[in-house]
Amino acid sequence: MAKNLFIKTYGCQMNVYDSDRMAHSLAAHGYRLVDAAEDADLVVLNTCHIREKAAEKVYSELGRLRRLREARRARDGRELTLAVAGCVAQAEGELLVERAPFVDLVVGPQAYHRLPELLARRARADGAVVDTEFPVESKFDLLEPDQPAQGVSAFLTIQEGCDKFCTFCVVPYTRGAEQSRPVVDILREADGLVASGARELVLLGQNVNAYHGEGPDGRIWGLARLLRRLAELPGLERLRYTTSHPVDMDADLVRAHGELPQLMPFLHLPVQSGSDAVLAAMNRNYSADDFRRVVDDLRAARPDIALSSDFIVGFPGETDADFAATMALVREIGFAQAFSFKYSPRPGTPASGLRRQIADRVKSDRLRELQELLERQAAEFNAASVGSTMPVLLERPGRHPGQLVGRSPYLQAIHVSAGGLTIGDLVQVRVTACHSHSLAGMVVPEAPEPRELPA
Ligand code: 5AD
Ligand code: SF4
Repeated sequence: MAKNLFIKTYGCQMNVYDSDRMAHSLAAHGYRLVDAAEDADLVVLNTCHIREKAAEKVYSELGRLRRLREARRARDGRELTLAVAGCVAQAEGELLVERAPFVDLVVGPQAYHRLPELLARRARADGAVVDTEFPVESKFDLLEPDQPAQGVSAFLTIQEGCDKFCTFCVVPYTRGAEQSRPVVDILREADGLVASGARELVLLGQNVNAYHGEGPDGRIWGLARLLRRLAELPGLERLRYTTSHPVDMDADLVRAHGELPQLMPFLHLPVQSGSDAVLAAMNRNYSADDFRRVVDDLRAARPDIALSSDFIVGFPGETDADFAATMALVREIGFAQAFSFKYSPRPGTPASGLRRQIADRVKSDRLRELQELLERQAAEFNAASVGSTMPVLLERPGRHPGQLVGRSPYLQAIHVSAGGLTIGDLVQVRVTACHSHSLAGMVVPEAPEPRELPA
């Protein structure tokens, strides 16, 4: 009998991708996706453990779902199975069941291919079933065959896990050691996504530019080589990759930015801090000047490149001078977009045990100051787009009839009037206005091919 499945996804794009894969693999076992927990027989929370706030949200959502289940049992006896997946599941495992004993299933990111079997086990068992192992088999090999693209832009995980052990970060513990998928698997999935309508691929990995997968020639391919191969796919207009580490921005990858028109001139490159002392304490393995050099090289290879980044303020021991160095770096480099966070001590990570933790009031003040600057830069970047002409990939209908929304190379949402256009078209747009969260523009004819001059 068909069952209803609701998945709520928290955190990063990797979780979005994983949720799609879980839905696809459960579909083969009779589960149909629905839009609300209220209609579901199975709810999966695909969780994030990166900061305390993200993890706490899961427990409040679980409380709500428990009440929903009780109300429903009292009303018509219909059951609701509650599963927790993702990084909170991985990090907390049995602890999660102790704290929320009404949960049926706890499954870590490396065990999603076992979901149907775990559900069957739960149906037979009395208590919760917990699977947070890092199995020897790869989930990529065992999940259902590749799924069709969900839209014009599709995620494709090429690498998972991290060996960098930044001292603030839980990822090496929740996602495990770095693992790159073989090139042939990625190409097969990419082919399928393009065949089913994807015009843009966003390659995903916790440390995506550390990619080193086995190539069809038996050699190890880096990300640059993989990108060059993917750029050959007919029908594929755009490539992006995220998230990168500055240390792995090697010369070949920088060169690829200059060579491949499909590779969008917009790069998310988390710097975290502009202070060498803090960067060292974070175990980032680069200095602020190293980061400046990487940015200079990228700009030399691709002058229209824009950057986005992540920042942490209030890392243990961060002084006023350290924070001032971060502000100076931001002013100097200029970011089109950014995410910034107060340092959040995570259980089991080295930085959480450091003395000289920073008072929350200080973190808040620094975050406010940094965000003001970053928001100003982002607003200036968007305002500067007005008057320019950019290629825009049309992705979805707009809110008003006759309107489509697409993305610029810089991931800016752009509204255009749809006359004669369809989703999936790549068009030239002259930007006419800048609103708080999007741009508006007019489709203009393609730039004519340069004409040959008569002899
Ligand atoms: N506290 C605050 N921010 C964090 N991030 C990762 N771990 C922590 C933490 N413990 C941020 C980093 C990273 C982004 C995904 O989340 O900036 O790049
Ligand atoms: Fe976390 Fe650092 Fe690995 Fe990024 S590189 S996932 S911040 S440990």
